[in-house]
Amino acid sequence: MNKTNSVFIATSIDGYISDKNDELDWLHYIPNPDSIDMGYGKFTNRIDAIVMGRTTFETVCGFDIAWPYKKPLFVLSNTLLELPESYKTKAELVKGSLTEILEQIHKKGYHRLYIDGGTTIQSFLNEDLIDELVITTIPILLGGGSRLFAELTHELKFEHVESKEFLNDIVQSHYKRIR
Ligand SMILES: NC(=O)c1ccc[n+]([C@@H]2O[C@H](COP(=O)([O-])OP(=O)(O)OC[C@H]3O[C@@H](n4cnc5c(N)ncnc54)[C@H](OP(=O)(O)O)[C@@H]3O)[C@@H](O)[C@H]2O)c1
Repeated sequence: MNKTNSVFIATSIDGYISDKNDELDWLHYIPNPDSIDMGYGKFTNRIDAIVMGRTTFETVCGFDIAWPYKKPLFVLSNTLLELPESYKTKAELVKGSLTEILEQIHKKGYHRLYIDGGTTIQSFLNEDLIDELVITTIPILLGGGSRLFAELTHELKFEHVESKEFLNDIVQSHYKRIR
């Protein structure tokens, strides 16, 4: 079975995934009257499970909406001892090295993984564990916040698969890691 780790994320032009106040409302500032999903549904249909950093998990838990995920969710945290009671049926806590975590998730039969959260994506990239990046750029300069990318120990080359434009203002670029 092909094992892939994919990123599908929205960023500001200056590379931030949340603003200085840890808010995400800027993601939706371009009017989207028909609520097009910009490929998110298609993307999530081809993944088996989600691996998410603790900060992103807590952000999602704070949204006043129904649980948004249909796929199994694994939360990375080395500080949480357990997930809050009401989330124990929705998500599973995982800890250890990324190699150990991936082994654990693959053993459960989930091979195509959606990797989410800034620090989490950065640590996967640092170990060259990302195969695919789908980056949606919102036309805004935030000037600060949580970064999508950080320094890497090695260069990583990607090939461009395609780019799409949505709502006249949003560009989405799809890259695959060249190995
Ligand atoms: N724009 C978008 O599309 C988008 C998408 C996702 C998230 N976001 C936002 O971006 C922000 C992301 O926060 P963040 O960058 O702090 O990241 P994060 O990746 O969501 O969470 C980082 C936390 O994950 C845990 N972790 C455990 N093992 C790890 C490992 N090997 N590598 C990395 N993390 C590990 C750590 O928690 P412990 O301290 O508990 O060990 C770490 O503090 C949030 O505000 C979120 O809402 C935006």
